[in-house]
Amino acid sequence: MKTVFVLNGPNLNLLGTREPQVYGSQTLADVQTLCERACATHGFALDFRQTNTEGTLVDWLHEAGRLQAAGTLAGVVLNAGAYTHTSVALHDAIKGTGITLIELHISNVHAREAFRHHSYISPAAKAVMAGFGVNGYALAITGLAGMQ
Ligand code: DQA
Repeated sequence: MKTVFVLNGPNLNLLGTREPQVYGSQTLADVQTLCERACATHGFALDFRQTNTEGTLVDWLHEAGRLQAAGTLAGVVLNAGAYTHTSVALHDAIKGTGITLIELHISNVHAREAFRHHSYISPAAKAVMAGFGVNGYALAITGLAGMQ
């Protein structure tokens, strides 16, 4: 059974109380449950994580790269939060590991402030998902299943 990494960046631990008009009222624990269900449907194991630290995300992407090279990882769903718009380091980690990665945003970043329109992740990602609310996580896992 292959594993899916679902990696969440800064402030996503605040889901449920953080700007609910933008991100909805479900918590990160609810998102984890939703991802567990989606992974079970597709026969994947789930590894679900959150950090507020950029370097930790880099380390986790390297770990994902090692697992993908070993044939045990289906891919990564990454909501890098605000690091999406700032992090060359995340871009380089995705490129450097060659992992199958889906960039995910709960909100439609293109309908929001101009500083959210540019992503350092998109040019290195296999696919991009934005604006489906937290259900986008399940859709992204289904998308990874179709890429196997
Ligand atoms: C986000 C969008 C980002 O612009 C923002 O900084 C986030 C969350 C989203 O899921 O919609 O933290 O990635």
